Formats: sequence, C-alpha cells, structure tokens
Amino acid sequence: MKQSKIIYGGLEALGRELAKEEWQGAKYTILLDENTFQHCLPLLISSVEALQEAEFIEVPVGEECKSLEVAAQVWQTLLEGEADRNAVLVNLGGGCVCDLGGFVAAGYKRGIRHINVPTTLLGMVDAAIGGKTAIDFGGVKNSIGHFYPAVLTVIEPAFLETLPETELLNGRMEMVKTAAVTDPALFERLLSTTHYPLSTVKEVARLKARVVKADPYDHSIRKILNFGHTFGHAIEVYRGLPHGLAVGVGMKVAMYLSTKKLGLAEEVYTTYSRWLKEFTPHLSPFTLKDIEQMFPLMRQDKKNTAGSLRCVLLQELGAPVIDVEISDNEVRDALLRLHR
Ligand SMILES: NC(=O)c1ccc[n+]([C@@H]2O[C@H](COP(=O)([O-])OP(=O)(O)OC[C@H]3O[C@@H](n4cnc5c(N)ncnc54)[C@H](O)[C@@H]3O)[C@@H](O)[C@H]2O)c1
Ligand SMILES: [Zn+2]
Repeated sequence: MKQSKIIYGGLEALGRELAKEEWQGAKYTILLDENTFQHCLPLLISSVEALQEAEFIEVPVGEECKSLEVAAQVWQTLLEGEADRNAVLVNLGGGCVCDLGGFVAAGYKRGIRHINVPTTLLGMVDAAIGGKTAIDFGGVKNSIGHFYPAVLTVIEPAFLETLPETELLNGRMEMVKTAAVTDPALFERLLSTTHYPLSTVKEVARLKARVVKADPYDHSIRKILNFGHTFGHAIEVYRGLPHGLAVGVGMKVAMYLSTKKLGLAEEVYTTYSRWLKEFTPHLSPFTLKDIEQMFPLMRQDKKNTAGSLRCVLLQELGAPVIDVEISDNEVRDALLRLHR
C-alpha cells in the first residue's frame, strides 16, 4: 500500500505541490467543521492558490461526524455537485474530519484522492497519518472503515494557535505514547517541557509514519501504537474523559503491568505517574464494581480475541512487546492501584 506523502513544510509547500502536473484538472472539495471553517479555512485558501475556488462541505463537530448518515450526506452533496473521479477531498480538521473524509473518499466512485490537512495536534502526530479511515457504527467506535491513505498529508503548525488547551493535551498524550514505544530520549524530553518546538511535532509525525510503513495493515509492529489504548478506551467510555487524556491514564496502567510482568524499571513508572498527576487531579479511584463494568469495554478493543485480554506492554522505554496476555486479576490489581 502506498503511504501518504507527508509535507512537513506547511501550506506554502502544499501550494507548490498542487501546482504540479498531476493535480491539473482536480476539482477540490474541502471537508470541514464549524471550528475549522472559522479558524482554519481563511488561512488555507489564502495560502494555497489551487484551493481558492474550492467548494466546501461542513459536517458536525467532533465524533458526531463519524457516522454513516453524515458520510451519506457528503456523498449526496458530491453527487449533486457532479463530482467525478477527478474530485479531490481536502480534509481540514482534526482526527474526526480526517477519519470521516478518508472513509468518504475511499467509497466515492470506487475511490477518489484525498488530502489530509490536520488542524489539531492529535491529527498532526497521529490520526492524519497512516491510512486508517473509519466511522462509528452499531455503537462501536471505528467499527467500519478502510486502509486508504491520503495522497498528501500536510503539517501546518499555525493551525495550533487557535486550538483549545484541552485539545493540545490530547495530542500531547499521543506524542508521549509514540515516544514511549519508540524513543526513550524523546520520551524524557516530552515529559520535561510544556512547550514543544515545531521540530518535535514533526519528529513524532515521522516516527508514526515510520512504524506505519513497516506494517501498514496493523498485523505486527504497528500494534505498538496501541500502547495504553486497551485501558484508555475503556476509561474514555466509562468516565467520559477525552481520548488523549484517557490514553494517558491507560499508559499508566500499562506501565504498572509492565513493571510486574516484563520487568520495566519502577522508576519509569513513578516518573510517568508523577508527570501525569498534573493533568488528572480530579480522577476519582476505580472501585471493583467499576472495573467489572469496564471489562466488556476492554474486551471490545479490536486487539482482543475472545477470552483473556492482550495488550502492548514495555520491557523498557522504546522496547514494547505486543500481545501480552493479562489475566482479569492482573487488570483488577492494576486499576485498583491507579491512585497509589
Ligand atoms: N485514523 C487514525 O489512525 C486515528 C488515530 C488516532 C485518532 N483517530 C481519531 O481521531 C479522532 C479524534 O481526533 P481529534 O482529537 O483531532 O478531535 P476532533 O477532530 O474532534 O477535534 C477536536 C476539536 O477541536 C476543534 N478544532 C480542530 N482544529 C481546530 C483549530 N485549529 N482551532 C480550533 N479548534 C479546532 C474541532 O472542531 C473539535 O471540536 C477520534 O475519532 C479518533 O478515533 C484516528
Ligand atoms: Zn489514540
């Protein structure tokens, strides 16, 4: 599978790219939400000449746009606008718009080109890279989707200027995740500063792209990027925490289990726990009853076949092991200890 070309030089570089021969005759439609319409569209169209005449389609903000109904509305609008196979969908938004846009592009006329222009930190370092597209269906997140990489993904940090602090934090947690499973020095750097230079955002995007290239269909090494997610997804749904923050807590659970099962140094766990505490002061402890109710959510995680839970743990920072089997008692113990 051909992966997306990532343009690290921002919108100006995108403008140069779209002036090339292969984009002549392209008819662009920009997919956006209310926030990116307001905060990001002006910069996009003023910076990229090829997009000045583009149509745009607005979808609901956040996870709500990742539905079959919204996808159908976008297909309908494309049909009514007589979009043909030269149509190009430009996804201007966070992970939600990019996930939906990729899904729509994969299905329309058996596949049209799409360009990801992530406008959240999480989008830039994670969601907009790697070709996974999805909508939520049947009450299950990301249950229907494709591997369908964008032709281009553009990293433009200027979009981060209007992003709310909570959204920055979500992205930051995913950056820490990628670093934890690939690069110990970067992990330490991420924990020691609050303001990352742009080069760090690009560095993490490159790390993700490298892992995806090695295993585009998520059969083996790509699974390391699910670190913290088995527990994180359950915490996200059960406690209603934002995804990134929930993954942050999920990583703490996974690190604790890593010290018990794979000999991860206690110090890594305690340093991380201390850092995380700053962002989760109000998280109340899990009771045994909570944990029982969270088990089905943990099992729903795509990584788990029937029966015991399997997840990514760490031998050391940068040395993850995938598919480690965890007993229900080990999960109970780890979640009960979360507050110690
Ligand atoms: N495909 C993948 O590989 C992958 C990986 C990780 C996450 N995801 C998906 O990504 C989604 C989460 O993405 P997200 O965290 O970017 O959330 P999001 O797309 O909902 O964006 C977060 C919020 O920020 C607003 N926003 C976006 N850009 C803005 C800007 N520049 N200024 C001001 N507001 C702005 C949005 O309107 C929204 O309200 C989830 O659905 C998740 O499943 C996909
Ligand atoms: Zn995630």
